[in-house]
Amino acid sequence: MTSSTQDRVKIFDTTLRDGEQSPGATMTHAEKLEIAGLLDEMGVDIIEAGFPIASEGDFQAVSEIAKNSVNSSICGLARANITDIDRCWEAVKHAAQPRIHTFIGTSPLHRAIPNLSMDQMAERIEQTVTHARNLCPDVQWSPMDATRTEHDYLCRVIEIAIKCGATTINIPDTVGYTAPRESADLIRMLIEKVPGADTVTFATHCHNDLGMATANALAAVEAGARQIECTINGLGERAGNTALEEVVMAMKVRNDILPYATRIDATKIMNISRRVSSVSGFAVQPNKAIVGKNAFAHESGIHQDGMLKNAETFEIMRPSDIGLSETSLVMGKHSGRAALRAKLADLGYELGDNQLKDVFVRFKALADRKKEIYDDDLVALMQDSSAAAANEHLKVKFLRVICGTEAPQSADLTLTVDGKDEQVTATGDGPVDATFNAVKAIFPHDARLQLYQVHAVTEGTDAQATVSVRMEEDGKIVTGQSADTDTVVASAKAYVAALNRLIVRRTKTHSDKKEINYKDVS
Ligand code: KIV
Ligand code: ZN
Repeated sequence: MTSSTQDRVKIFDTTLRDGEQSPGATMTHAEKLEIAGLLDEMGVDIIEAGFPIASEGDFQAVSEIAKNSVNSSICGLARANITDIDRCWEAVKHAAQPRIHTFIGTSPLHRAIPNLSMDQMAERIEQTVTHARNLCPDVQWSPMDATRTEHDYLCRVIEIAIKCGATTINIPDTVGYTAPRESADLIRMLIEKVPGADTVTFATHCHNDLGMATANALAAVEAGARQIECTINGLGERAGNTALEEVVMAMKVRNDILPYATRIDATKIMNISRRVSSVSGFAVQPNKAIVGKNAFAHESGIHQDGMLKNAETFEIMRPSDIGLSETSLVMGKHSGRAALRAKLADLGYELGDNQLKDVFVRFKALADRKKEIYDDDLVALMQDSSAAAANEHLKVKFLRVICGTEAPQSADLTLTVDGKDEQVTATGDGPVDATFNAVKAIFPHDARLQLYQVHAVTEGTDAQATVSVRMEEDGKIVTGQSADTDTVVASAKAYVAALNRLIVRRTKTHSDKKEINYKDVS
């Protein structure tokens, strides 16, 4: 069967809503617009662009994404109340294809929070779905925690939502509790039993708490779901959501047993994965399926020998299928600006002349320190450039550390703070601790360091290190990332990048989405 005659499964991407809800994954307005543009370009059917009532920032981002959308439907999330739904409509109405997604927790645990009886909740669903449908021709309704809701009640409320005009019924496994057979049985039961089920699209929305989100989503599709809700890199709260790249590639590579077509241009996967990792500050684990650094690496002798003779011995898909170039050795210090521009375009970065000028200076500086520059080095360099460009109140100007067997280690640091240089020398338990203490001495703050992670970008002792830092202050979580051949310099820049994000978040306290309670429907 060719893909044009196969059943179509819509891809609903919620990286900018459920993904961004992951603590510390907050993206800036410009970053959200960029990611939405990439999702639209890659063929995502529906982009859930945010939760407009959550904050003024979310509202603005959803509105602008709606205005800029080309092929994708643009969806906003709303709780089951009129104010949320009206606000959502105000944001998505600019899209050529707007969608309102409204939800309420239907399981016994979730019903207890707003303290609604089954009948009262049913009435609320009737009012809110009707209201949404009066505003927008495309309405998605979700019974949150569907997989832990009594089946009779689930059938009853879905029937109401369909009667009131919902066009998509999404079945969330909110806490990642289900397993593949149960996921399929639930969808099959709903399609068989609920009157009007044949007039709507059923969607599957899985979380990965037990590591089964991809399997559960595909099982739901086999049972009749025709929309998968997912995020790039599986970004999302706790263990994350179903990963877009996994379900798309599973349906492509195993199309013999999963005969479903999507509109996704899979060759764009790698680029968007890198961008989401960079802007969210969530590094992709090296052994992550499809987009992990090691997903196509074959290190054992037997594997390498087999690969050289016939790539299919150990590879079920080619790196180029997801947009990963097969030759990754690129250039050195003699490479020119045109070659750099071409290589970056190959990696998915289209640069204007001024931007290229800046990146070229950084590239030359890197090439002076590192003989061979690989694709991954360039990606790290680009990620570093965009992190540095965003909201730079603080900037690392100079750093020299003294470290070794004799304590205390010390750091001599100059930071530019809003254009003015400030210098300090601090000691600490190791060079990174001394450096962070120096940052704190210049820019005192109470943010708590939650995570400090170092990854080598490529092999060898001259490899760049990518450092990720996550910090928390008054419930606000921010991340920073940076790369450098000097791990301590990368650490200082990542720490400062996180602080820059924190400064921006501080000024937005009054509209911070943390104050929104998803379970509060009133
Ligand atoms: O996981 C969930 O239940 C959700 C809903 C808001 C659809 O994200
Ligand atoms: Zn979710």
